[in-house]
Amino acid sequence: MLRGRFAEGISPLLLEFSGTVQGDLEFFYEDVWGSQAHVLMLAKQVIISKHDAGKIIECLEDISEEFGAGQFKPDSSLEDIHINIENRVIDECGMDFGGKMHTARSRNDQVLTDTRLHLRQEILGVEEAVLELQNTLLALANKHSADVMPGYTHMQHAQPITFGFWAAAYASMLSRDLERLSNAYKHVNVCPLGACALAGTSFPTDRKYTAKLLGFDDVIPSALDAVSSRDFVAETAAALAILMSNLSKLSEDLVLWSSFEFKFIEFADDFATGSSIMPQKKNPDMAELVRGKTGRVYGALMQILTVMKGLPSGYNRDLQEDREPLWKALGVVKLSVAVMDAGLKGAKINKENMKESLDTDFSTATELANHLVREKKLAFREAYTITGSLVKELVSHKKTFRDVVDVKKILSKSGVEIADWEISDILDPVKSVHRYKSLGSASPKEVKRIAADLLADNKARAGELKKRQSKIEAAKELTMKEIKLLRT
Ligand code: ARG
Repeated sequence: MLRGRFAEGISPLLLEFSGTVQGDLEFFYEDVWGSQAHVLMLAKQVIISKHDAGKIIECLEDISEEFGAGQFKPDSSLEDIHINIENRVIDECGMDFGGKMHTARSRNDQVLTDTRLHLRQEILGVEEAVLELQNTLLALANKHSADVMPGYTHMQHAQPITFGFWAAAYASMLSRDLERLSNAYKHVNVCPLGACALAGTSFPTDRKYTAKLLGFDDVIPSALDAVSSRDFVAETAAALAILMSNLSKLSEDLVLWSSFEFKFIEFADDFATGSSIMPQKKNPDMAELVRGKTGRVYGALMQILTVMKGLPSGYNRDLQEDREPLWKALGVVKLSVAVMDAGLKGAKINKENMKESLDTDFSTATELANHLVREKKLAFREAYTITGSLVKELVSHKKTFRDVVDVKKILSKSGVEIADWEISDILDPVKSVHRYKSLGSASPKEVKRIAADLLADNKARAGELKKRQSKIEAAKELTMKEIKLLRT
């Protein structure tokens, strides 16, 4: 179809190397919608007649139905889906009609229109899944706001926190992932259609009208920018990669905590796997795989950035390499978020084990030092040193903070007199977390407040998402309405 300038047909090897027909099926319906909008615009601007437009649109509808019924068999010798559809329209309603569909358009703006239409829907899908995961974490935060566990730095017991505080931290991370996705959406949902090959066109097109029919927020003003740029692809992939890095952190915590040494959580039986040889094994594969699949999404981002690097302005064929990694990354992310959500929903939280692991550690040492500052009027560094030597001496005698007599004796040597009740009070991890006062701290009260704020955010984002989805639906309806009007 595109061989007018050539003496020979395309080499099968080059065709196999360069064709994108199979991958393009991903945005088949978007290509049809984009063509409908384009043809409606051509008729409105009297670039083609209403009659021509009606014929073309009828053909497009037939093709779309055929595709839905699994009967549209794309021809791989026709490079991509755009040429396949145009070819079918010409076949079906003749060159006199079908041959006019591609007036004032190029595949360069067409492929980008399809990509953006498809991608925006995919982003909304990921956002929805992340909102659900965030909700699950917030429910855990509320339920376990006062259930103590060790907080870690360097993977060493650091200070007591609560399981709810831990869950709220991940909900808080996800709110930034949601914001990144929402920002990416803004840069995705702008219309390249009408940019044509790179320079625009001498036909009196109305780009704002097509953008409206397709539910875009705006048109990309520069035709050259519209066809040259894939930063919206990289931006989305970056948001996805960062999201996966957060999920991989979450996974790592869960893998560790379901080990024999921790026993803090246990995945439900239907969300764990066994070993082919060791009958006793219950493996947290789901979390390991979310951690593992993160590599695929980082890979996709690198692939996209590498394709983009150093390309000259204008359309370059390299650019068609953007979609495969993008769709793959979206697939991995959607599944990973859903799996993580289901895994967390079914997991058993072993509160007793978490609390017990604080029994003989020294994680309330910071609180003891703080107490010496507040009640005994010591400078913090002095209190820190005294508490440090207390721990050193207790460890050397194989004692813990629970050995109150020893604690008192050792402190007294440093000139600190302290009552029994003070010691048991300060060194109790449960009381300790209730004493935290600062904004964003691990106190049950703050955990509830953080969770409430994040939940309000979550609801607002869900509302914004719904609005974006409704705008897309309204645009589809508008296109249908304009088609009906064209026929009257
Ligand atoms: N199949 C191509 C792509 O995926 C469509 C654009 C082709 N444009 C061109 N000038 N060869 O990017």
